[in-house]
Amino acid sequence: MRNITVIKKKIKPFKKKIFVSGDKSLSIRWVLFSSLGSGISRAKNLLMSQDVLATIQTVKKLGIKVKFKNNFCYIYGKGINGFKVKKKTTINAKNSGTLGRLILGLLIHNTKPIKLIGDKSLSKRDFKRIVDPLTKFGATFKLKKNRLPLEMIGSKNLKPIFYNENRGSAQCKSAVIFAGMRTEGKTFIKAKKSRNHTELLSKYLGLPIKIKNEKYYDLIEIEKVKKMKPLNYVIPSDISSSAFFIVLTAITKNSELTIKNVNVNPSRIGLITILRKMGVKIIFKNKRLYKGENIANIFVRSPKKLKPINCPTYLNSGAIDEFLLIFLVAAKSYGVSYFKNLEELNQKESPRLKLGSKILNLMGVKTITTKNSIKIFGNPDLKINKRIIIKNFLKDHRIFMTSVVAALSFGSHWTIHDSSSINTSFPEFMKIIKKLHG
Ligand code: S3P
Repeated sequence: MRNITVIKKKIKPFKKKIFVSGDKSLSIRWVLFSSLGSGISRAKNLLMSQDVLATIQTVKKLGIKVKFKNNFCYIYGKGINGFKVKKKTTINAKNSGTLGRLILGLLIHNTKPIKLIGDKSLSKRDFKRIVDPLTKFGATFKLKKNRLPLEMIGSKNLKPIFYNENRGSAQCKSAVIFAGMRTEGKTFIKAKKSRNHTELLSKYLGLPIKIKNEKYYDLIEIEKVKKMKPLNYVIPSDISSSAFFIVLTAITKNSELTIKNVNVNPSRIGLITILRKMGVKIIFKNKRLYKGENIANIFVRSPKKLKPINCPTYLNSGAIDEFLLIFLVAAKSYGVSYFKNLEELNQKESPRLKLGSKILNLMGVKTITTKNSIKIFGNPDLKINKRIIIKNFLKDHRIFMTSVVAALSFGSHWTIHDSSSINTSFPEFMKIIKKLHG
């Protein structure tokens, strides 16, 4: 298969209903929690992407049986102490920051050395943010320049910690919650708001966790877990994958879209709030609660005019995976948009603030970018009259998919490399694009 996608035609207005694949954050967490349950857990609609498969490979390596049958995934958990760590265990988190960081928390009580490796993109990402709190618990690490590969030796003598999570990183928060579950005594976390799936699943499972929600942060208290129940779960659709189609609708004239059964957890819907502020009509229909998560069908209609935004920073964490797309909306709006305190965006699968700005410039959109902010000079009448080639983006799946949305909406002749990058989070992406694009 050629690993390049060429798009030569703009998309026509559409009115469609679609389903999007399962939530990645929840799929990875389901695998990890279930692997520690006492008994068999079952999931429906588990996301079958490389990040989730890497998580399954990891628990298998730790001695846990996993089976697939008729749309269901079964995990045969051996209980909270059921992981078997062999002498020279290497875990390959591939492209997944979530797996790489969360698994270290779960293995912190294990005293055999564990090596953690990842692909080229993950090996460029910061692991100090995890190594620091886990070291305070009592683990020892070997790593160079705060990057993978690393080696961790856990401890039988863990001490609970107080952890101030001030980046708004759910991966850091979750890794510390998992380490706290392994540690005698009370671990306290003060966490800037970020996605809270780990907390919701812990609560649903009846684990010893207490959460107090303040306006800009949460206070979390976690104690040692003695036993975990199995976890049957129907994974809802991923809002971050839905985002590509929500934005494609928002920037395509006279278009409407319904996406069924999406996880609209309040900590994940920064994109929706931002788009509403920019004038996009978005309605949540058939809202319901499922095991602590909020689910809804999302209806989107494109507006006649898009307004620019001076984006409030409290929305950053809830939209962190969607900013590349939000930049496209800003590029199509009437006026100058401004996004700030976005240093975390350069810590993702690729430096997305830098590359997002570069793509806009290739399209002929003026930007002013610093190391943590971007000003985008929108132009609703923008015509691209040159060929655009997108390559060398560390195979970042979200750069690829955002470029496809840009090509379909802004037009011209686009050659987008590394099509297979979608396999990390959303292998079905091009199929759904074809459904809308015909
Ligand atoms: C994730 C947390 C976020 C997000 C990532 C998934 C998670 O990362 O960008 O795609 O499932 O916990 P950070 O915690 O680094 O912000």
